[in-house]
Order: sequence, then C-alpha cells, then structure tokens
Amino acid sequence: MSENAKITVENMNLYYGKFHALKNINMEIPEKEITAFIGPSGCGKSTLLKSLNRMNDLVEGCVITGKVQLDGEDIYGDMDVNLLRKRVGMVFQKPNPFPMSIYDNIAYGPRTHGIRSKAKLDDIVEKSLRDAAIWEEVKDRLKKSALGMSGGQQQRLCIARALAVEPSVLICDEATSALDVTVQKQILKLLMELKQKENFSFLLICHDLALVQAFCDRVLVLYHGETVESGTPDEIINHPKMDYTKKLIDSVL
Ligand SMILES: Nc1ncnc2c1ncn2[C@@H]1O[C@H](COP(=O)(O)OP(=O)(O)OP(=O)(O)O)[C@@H](O)[C@H]1O
Ligand SMILES: [Mg+2]
Repeated sequence: MSENAKITVENMNLYYGKFHALKNINMEIPEKEITAFIGPSGCGKSTLLKSLNRMNDLVEGCVITGKVQLDGEDIYGDMDVNLLRKRVGMVFQKPNPFPMSIYDNIAYGPRTHGIRSKAKLDDIVEKSLRDAAIWEEVKDRLKKSALGMSGGQQQRLCIARALAVEPSVLICDEATSALDVTVQKQILKLLMELKQKENFSFLLICHDLALVQAFCDRVLVLYHGETVESGTPDEIINHPKMDYTKKLIDSVL
C-alpha cells in the first residue's frame, strides 16, 4: 500500500444475488486528489462507490468478498457503520433533503455527533453552505423548509449536509450533473480547495469529460464490473490504451 493511500481495495467482488456486479477490483485512492469514475450505464460505478461506505449493506442478497481499507482499517471488519459513513460522505444524483428547515438539515449530522453549541452550529451551517456555493441564496431563509427549495438548490444543500460532518472522503455520484455548468464549476472549484486538506479524498462519477479534465487528478474506467484502465485525465481522454476506453471517450465527446 502506498504511503498516501486513503482507500485501498483488494480483490473485491460484489454479487447482487447471482449477479456478479463487481469483478476482482483492485485500486488505491490517494489522499488530496479528485478521482473520477467513468463507464457506461450499468457498468458498476455506483455499486463500487457505495461499497466504500457500506451502503450496499442495505441491499438484501448483496454479498461482498475481498478487502476494503480506509486509512489502513478494514471497513468490513468491526468498524462502526455510522462512524464509517461520517468519514465517507456520499451525495447522490437525486437530492434527498430531510423534511425540516435548511438550517436543521445541515446541523443534523453535527448534532448527532455531539455538537450542541449554537455558535459552533451556526459556524458549521454557514461554512458548509458556502462550500457548496449556496450560502448567498439561502442565508435569509435558513429557518424555512428545505422542501421549498428548487431542485438545484436542494442538491447543493445535500452537498453542504455531507460536508458539515467533515468527512475525509466525499463521494459524489453524479451529484452535480443536473446543475447548470456555471454552478457545477463553482462547486468543483470549492471542492478543489477542500481536497488540499491533509487526509482528504474526493471521488466523483461524472459524464462531462471537460469537467473531468479541468478538475480531476485521476480517472478510472469501469466496464462490465471491471476496472479496465486508469490514469491522468490527459492519458485517459487523449491517449487511451484500451480500445474500449477509446470507444467510450468517442461516444461521450
Ligand atoms: N440493488 C440492486 N439489486 C440488484 N442489481 C443491482 C442493484 N443495484 C444495481 N444493480 C445492477 O448492478 C449493475 C451495476 O449497477 P450500477 O448502478 O452500479 O451501475 P452504474 O455504472 O452506476 O450505472 P448508471 O451510469 O446508469 O448510474 C447493473 O446491472 C444494475 O442493474
Ligand atoms: Mg450510477
């Protein structure tokens, strides 16, 4: 395992019942980097990323073999799943705000992890909303229900909610793809600053290769449940080695 590996996956296989969805995955995710996952619909991108914070535990009949380590600890060992999900935050394509105020959506996680001070919570709420590029739009309506926000605002709220518990890995599963490009860029820029933090990694499923090229450090290509190629955005987009990657890049561009 390299010194700066945040996550290592060794010989991981995942089955949904009889269906072999991930096949012998081996990968290392370094800290301080943004890694993008690309591949056609159904190739296993979401399944792979969900297995990094045990979201697949909720799926009946799902079996995982092999090893996944976070900071050298086996996440399928005796790790507390709630603490694991605090360390590995996840935002999905479809926003899922809690039916409560904007403020409480963000304060919920920190409160469950024991933060009670109003001043501290106020700070966390403001900082998280700023980091998700939505503070200016909602600062005067923090007590209003999150369900009254637009879809794009709800999505940024969900990103802010994930950031509020200071995860050391943030996974965005097409979380920004429904937002307009200017807002996507704004968020990715802020996340670029966050990734500089010691011990932080950022994983992204994104179909927009221009954004991948502009913001990501590394790209991993998945096909039929296997990792077929990985490299820098320039290597994968401009000089792919595998025929499959070439076809994929041509089809997306
Ligand atoms: N809960 C589940 N139960 C059974 N099969 C599943 C489940 N979730 C996903 N699958 C199957 O596993 C495979 C990988 O799905 P996954 O959602 O990981 O793909 P994806 O690459 O994220 O696709 P997309 O780009 O469309 O989001 C697909 O064949 C899918 O039908
Ligand atoms: Mg998916």
